[in-house]
Amino acid sequence: MTSPLLEIRGLSVEYRRRRTVSLAVDDVSLDVSPGEAVGVVGESGSGKTTITRAILGLTAIRSGEVLFDGHDVTSLDFAGRRRLYRQAQLVFQDPYSSLNPSRTIGRTLAEPLRAYGERDAGLVRTRVREMLERVQLPDGTADRYPRELSGGQRQRVAIARALMLSPRLVILDEPLSALDLSAQAQVLNLLRELQAIAGLSYLFISHDLEVVRYLCDRVVVMYAGRVMETGPAGQVSGQSAHPYTHMLHQASPSPDPRSQRRRHATTAAPPLRDPARHQAGGERCNYAPRCPFAISRCWTERPVRRADEGQGEVACHRFPQWRDEIRLAADAAGPPWAPPSPRADLEADLEAVVLEPGHRDGIEGALHGEDR
Ligand SMILES: Nc1ncnc2c1ncn2[C@@H]1O[C@H](COP(=O)(O)OP(=O)(O)O)[C@@H](O)[C@H]1O
Ligand SMILES: [Mg+2]
Repeated sequence: MTSPLLEIRGLSVEYRRRRTVSLAVDDVSLDVSPGEAVGVVGESGSGKTTITRAILGLTAIRSGEVLFDGHDVTSLDFAGRRRLYRQAQLVFQDPYSSLNPSRTIGRTLAEPLRAYGERDAGLVRTRVREMLERVQLPDGTADRYPRELSGGQRQRVAIARALMLSPRLVILDEPLSALDLSAQAQVLNLLRELQAIAGLSYLFISHDLEVVRYLCDRVVVMYAGRVMETGPAGQVSGQSAHPYTHMLHQASPSPDPRSQRRRHATTAAPPLRDPARHQAGGERCNYAPRCPFAISRCWTERPVRRADEGQGEVACHRFPQWRDEIRLAADAAGPPWAPPSPRADLEADLEAVVLEPGHRDGIEGALHGEDR
């Protein structure tokens, strides 16, 4: 068992607005091992970006620890932070505002190398060319400006820039959100390939559970600053242990209309609202105000994380009983709707029409492709 590259222990971050103090991140623990892709999933306002800011020392923390390669990064001086940034890089949501519009792509990509002391212009050019190739952009992209590129191309540039210093960890904060669907799929595939080639670690932040499942080994599900559930990606998405994760799973679009319809029949969750409103924290489950399975205990006692039935952990008083309630609701909604197969249609027609026995055999023979 290798020791984690990134270790977050009991992290809490608070924001003060006038006289109110709110916990944007409340006792969050997670780790990322070398070569591992860990997803953090949750709706807007759940504290995901605050975690990335805390990792990079960009926000003061209230309590807890953030260790990178075993070293505390929450109180780094300038030199220490410089060393950290060499190994941990960030890719933001909006590739347009994160790229300098007055610089060519070549200059933007060269900048990290220069900032870390590389003076050999020929070598810098070679590295830029190699990196463009790696993110599947044409050579000539180096001479272009961000405004001349599509959103997907710009995000590739942002990824290339993050990789210029050969970091060990890349933190991607909703890197697909600003892209259209086909660009999303392309960038997602690129991220997967890059990870396989370079043995990178990812902390991948998203509001879309299915995207996280595709890219990540493990998932951390957050709601209103707290961890609801963690576990292997397939388990968290396929057999969610927390009702909130289940709801996220139902909410993410499915390409299959049948399973979409079935999901709707079994979704008991109320519509999405601003989780920040429920961020009061304290001695209750933060999800209780939205949870269709909440009981009085959920309002008075904060659930602790405990092992679920697989390799994950869940913070829910109602696990696993809430699943029985879902099952009952699904039974009440009837069997999942399925379009009748063409063959079943014909069968029904045969029943509906009174046919002489011989006639009927003839039609059935034709249906079965029998040669008569
Ligand atoms: N600078 C800030 N000042 C006050 N509150 C903030 C600030 N940044 C974020 N918050 C609050 O902290 C919570 C978490 O925000 P954030 O980490 O951005 O969530 P996410 O990235 O999951 O959307 C939200 O309720 C948000 O309103
Ligand atoms: Mg965010």
